[in-house]
Amino acid sequence: MRGNSIRWLLAAGVLACAAAVGADQALAPAPLGLPALRVPADNPQTPEKIALGKKLFEDKRFSSTGEVACANCHMAEKAFTDGPLKVSEGINKLTGTRNAPTVINSAYMRSMFWDGRSPTLEDQALHPFVNPVEMGLKDHEPILRIVRSDPEYTRAFGRVFDKSGNKITMTEVTKAIAAFERTIISGNSPFDRYYFGHDAKALTPAQIRGLDLFVNKARCVSCHVIEQTQALFTDNRFHNVGVGINDIQDDAPALATEFLRAKATLSEVDVKVLSDKRTSELGRLAVTRSLEDIGSFKTPTLRNVAVTAPYMHDGSKATLRDVIVHYNNGGVTNEGDRVNDFLSSGIRPLNLTEDEIDDLVAFMEALTSPEFADLPKATEGGAGNG
Ligand code: HEC
Ligand code: HEC
Repeated sequence: MRGNSIRWLLAAGVLACAAAVGADQALAPAPLGLPALRVPADNPQTPEKIALGKKLFEDKRFSSTGEVACANCHMAEKAFTDGPLKVSEGINKLTGTRNAPTVINSAYMRSMFWDGRSPTLEDQALHPFVNPVEMGLKDHEPILRIVRSDPEYTRAFGRVFDKSGNKITMTEVTKAIAAFERTIISGNSPFDRYYFGHDAKALTPAQIRGLDLFVNKARCVSCHVIEQTQALFTDNRFHNVGVGINDIQDDAPALATEFLRAKATLSEVDVKVLSDKRTSELGRLAVTRSLEDIGSFKTPTLRNVAVTAPYMHDGSKATLRDVIVHYNNGGVTNEGDRVNDFLSSGIRPLNLTEDEIDDLVAFMEALTSPEFADLPKATEGGAGNG
């Protein structure tokens, strides 16, 4: 699996760069079901930059213990997650507060992280290195020392960016990482072949019923969007669907006030939300500072969701069935539990039958791309931490 997926990633990267023409232009062709990918004008894809980015992504020396690379929590062989962990483990097995989202198709996201606190892949890549519960560096200097002196890196940075010595900065490091991440895109799932490829046999009858429920009765599509010619399964917006916030709702207003008073910078927010469970639950509020955003998180893509358990920003749902039961109950774990005061108006009890819940699960299992199809499915739930 690993060898295959890496070969495939590199092939995708080369393809993408061959089609990259000039500034901020769409790359072609995207896999079935995905839109053309846009790359920033100042960071065009090249095969050498992509290979450099992959090496940086996998380098454990860029952590205070020498044990944690980006790839520790975003493993190719686990569909770029760290399942079955509920929340990620960084240096010295320190745990954060959030579940590692897959990096597959992050290149299409309009903001990064569950609360959208980072605007681009380039910016996002700065933060894990210096987060005390992730890679634990005090600043980025140790990374720069390595890339300015290690012969393989000096050669690669010279070729890719025409820079050496102190001219190599985190700008080049993060550009290369982002270029690699822009090759981690995948579509062409059974759903894509059915819906966009018009192959009526690509889905099972249960999956077809599940698709109908997804679009109609269960209204999932209002946030997990499917468009005419492509589907990212996200609206790139933020909603409170009743996860995590339910546990702190009596304290939420006081916590929010305390947070707003502290006037943290975005870097401080990055540290705080990953190290303090209760602050983490404030969600999008930590970024917009707007009370309306309490407990709101980014709508994640559902592509490859069957192989990226556990679920939600806090990893609190072990299986896809658990997720649907939560929605079916109107945004609470157990039917009849108290709904939080800030719940999205899009979340209401759905009156799905047991069979309909099974059909929705079957549909979500049809969203796995061929590159990840032989990974274990998360129907049973795993032994996570936390
Ligand atoms: C200790 C585990 C860990 C390490 C190491 C780590 N990440 Fe992550 N990553 C996470 C978690 C957890 C999140 C979600 C955090 C949040 O939303 O607040 C995340 C989020 C992301 C996202 C956002 C995805 C999206 O769609 O919103 C990207 C991209 C990403 N990481 C790339 C990287 C890169 C690049 C590195 C190395 C520089 C890295 N990660 C290192 C755990 C990790
Ligand atoms: C109001 C918008 C909205 C609606 C409607 C909605 N979702 Fe979501 N979905 C979200 C958000 C936001 C999250 C992340 C919530 C969190 O972690 O706090 C999410 C998370 C998920 C996840 C977890 C994915 C992961 O990688 O962790 C699954 C699975 C999911 N939704 C499936 C569905 C299904 C099936 C339906 C229909 C029954 C549905 N959603 C309806 C917004 C929505």
